Amino acid sequence: MTISVQGVVSRGKGEPVQIAEVLVPEPGPGEALVRVQACGVCHTDLHYKMGGIGDDYPYLLGHEAAGVVEAVGDNVTDVAPGDFVILNWRAVCGQCRACKRGRPWYCFATHNATQKMTLADGTPLSPALGIGAFAEKTLVAAGQCTKVNPAIAPATAGLLGCGVMAGIGAAINTGGVTRGDTVAVIGCGGVGDAAILGARLAGAKTIIAVDIDDRKLEWAKEFGATHTINSRSSDAVAGIRDLTDGFGADVVVEAIGRPETYKQAFFARDLAGVVVLVGVPTPDMQLDLPLLEVFGRGGALKSSWYGDCLPSRDFPMLVDLHLDGRLPLEKFVSETIGLGDVEAAFTKMEHGDVLRSVVIF
Ligand code: APR
Ligand code: ZN
Ligand code: ZN
Repeated sequence: MTISVQGVVSRGKGEPVQIAEVLVPEPGPGEALVRVQACGVCHTDLHYKMGGIGDDYPYLLGHEAAGVVEAVGDNVTDVAPGDFVILNWRAVCGQCRACKRGRPWYCFATHNATQKMTLADGTPLSPALGIGAFAEKTLVAAGQCTKVNPAIAPATAGLLGCGVMAGIGAAINTGGVTRGDTVAVIGCGGVGDAAILGARLAGAKTIIAVDIDDRKLEWAKEFGATHTINSRSSDAVAGIRDLTDGFGADVVVEAIGRPETYKQAFFARDLAGVVVLVGVPTPDMQLDLPLLEVFGRGGALKSSWYGDCLPSRDFPMLVDLHLDGRLPLEKFVSETIGLGDVEAAFTKMEHGDVLRSVVIF
């Protein structure tokens, strides 16, 4: 039986988002119906609204979510009704060339629900990142549900579903930060701060936070930055070199997605170091680097998709570390809001007033 819920819908490029009635089908084979308890407001939701991702309006926004499985369709064995889950946008297929080579964190053919959620008049909705969780209930592929310890607060748990996992994973999974490393993180929003937290968890000895906003640098210290550089008032590359005995950092994470900050990351890295790009650029951006330096500096220039995470491996582990008091994920929740406050949350996000606003149901 199809159910009717309230959801946040983006109907056209740049238009303010609205609450609308959403019809959610009963889960079919391989699908799960999830009662959403919390969903964070992410930049990607704003990109959908602004037309930066595609033109498949109307979109059902929201994708950083946690909730309880309410029903499952046929052939679903990994989750069951009553399970507390974090939703992910990497439901690995097990069949693609990445999966077959034992690298499921790159899966090139991730699963989403087959059936469509619709508006009341039957118009199909495009769920953000195949999730659509600014809704009381949402329909996803069962593989998009990762069961975790229900003792974690839903608002905190949901953030692991996207931005916080991207940042932690950029440092640990992609950058391979390990004990004793020097790390610099350029851009200290939610993603950059999560990279800082990941670097601290992995045992980095020096963690340099770089931003143009002093308020962000203060927050970065709370996540584990040992040093800060305001790159509006001083040179980021020289500052990072000074703090690393003149050499540069072992791992530099770029968490903005801009050519000029990518270049800073490139030049602020020690020989044979790693640059990790986790910030998402726009199609107009170009990068210009001396090829001889690319060769001569060695190491690796990597991009991090979703923190190269494997949800089934990483989500339960990070939740357990949080519950053990070793990962203060709750600090990413700047405020909790209602479903009707998403448009206002976009404005706060654009002004840099919050790390994450989280809708609570
Ligand atoms: N130099 C240094 N810091 C900068 C610069 C710059 N030129 N421009 C912006 N920043 C800082 C901002 O002050 C802010 O603190 O970068 C940070 C970006 O943070 P948010 O806007 O909150 O973005 P966040 O959610 O952390 O995402 C960062 O990762 O997943 C992607 O799409 C996401 O591209 C985005 C990036
Ligand atoms: Zn795959
Ligand atoms: Zn996101």
